[in-house]
Amino acid sequence: MKVDGVAYRSVWVDGWSVRIFDQTKLPWALDILNLTTRDQAAHAIKSMQVRGAPLIGAVAAYGLCLALRADASSEAMERDAAMLAETRPTAINLRWALDRMLTRLRNTPAQGRVDAAYAEAAAIADEDVAQCAGIGRYGLELIQDIAAKKPGQRVNLLTHCNAGWLATVDWGTALAPIYMAHDAGIDLHVWVDETRPRNQGAALTAWELGKHGVAHTVIADNAGGHLMQHGQVDMAIVGTDRVTRTGDVANKIGTYLKALAARDNDVPFWVALPSTTIDWTVSDGVTEIPIEERSAAEVTDLTGRMADGTIATIRVAAGGSPAANPAFDVTPGRLVTGLITERGRCAATAEGLLGLFPERG
Ligand code: MRU
Repeated sequence: MKVDGVAYRSVWVDGWSVRIFDQTKLPWALDILNLTTRDQAAHAIKSMQVRGAPLIGAVAAYGLCLALRADASSEAMERDAAMLAETRPTAINLRWALDRMLTRLRNTPAQGRVDAAYAEAAAIADEDVAQCAGIGRYGLELIQDIAAKKPGQRVNLLTHCNAGWLATVDWGTALAPIYMAHDAGIDLHVWVDETRPRNQGAALTAWELGKHGVAHTVIADNAGGHLMQHGQVDMAIVGTDRVTRTGDVANKIGTYLKALAARDNDVPFWVALPSTTIDWTVSDGVTEIPIEERSAAEVTDLTGRMADGTIATIRVAAGGSPAANPAFDVTPGRLVTGLITERGRCAATAEGLLGLFPERG
């Protein structure tokens, strides 16, 4: 996607080093970081300089490339892949990408591993772009249907967290259909959940949509149910960090509450994902998906730009009060209208997913 007229991906290679945007600096600054070591890649994932399930997977793959430059032995490769896999627990793309890299590299002689690793990581990144474009096309049809039913009126969508191009290699998952609908001339508007505690909605989704010229409004996380009750949301669309084989959806904390409100108000609730986000080994999302617990400081403190332009972190919770910070929740498939993948749309059920991915049966 473009930023001020310049086309970017969210991760790219310059020579052999790996470039990313420091997403902790957005929306105040567009800082590009140069990753040259495994530890820098691991830090980027852990500290959320990069985040979003597909992007984490791609950066982990490139992190393994950087690790192999230092030591391409089998022993080091297994150790470094295991270390990168530990950086974040919930998004399955991380493990998927590293498993794919290891499968490709285990049978490659050590002297050819670095080149093979860069080629495989590039393939992972390119395939993610193609998959997200496919999601965009299948999701666009849903938005076109809504637009056709309310001629001359704006289509109102609601999204949570950031599932745009910054969360993937390009296009995004939930935002891909929105960009394509906007580009197709559909009059649309997006309600953007701020997404406390890390504010991926207010800081990243709003920034992305603004750069692309998409009409949007940032709302407090608690506002979505009210807007749905008053007919101001035609469709909710979110991304996901892991989908079970039965269609349960792990996504940023607060997604479940939006799905409940959507069900109560007959608002379609769609989840957009590349197939790399499906964990075919897991059936019950609520009990089987590990939920990342992050620092209490993300809840008690807020970072933002002060009137004089400086960036500051302030405490908003009462001094001494402890805070809990589960970063994801699981929305049972029964609350999901359907899944949008690169192969098409399906019900959020085992049968629905197997219909699109019969080779997994
Ligand atoms: O903690 P994050 O920012 O990595 O979480 C990402 C999300 O939960 C996104 O909303 C998303 O839908 C998954 S990535 C497309």
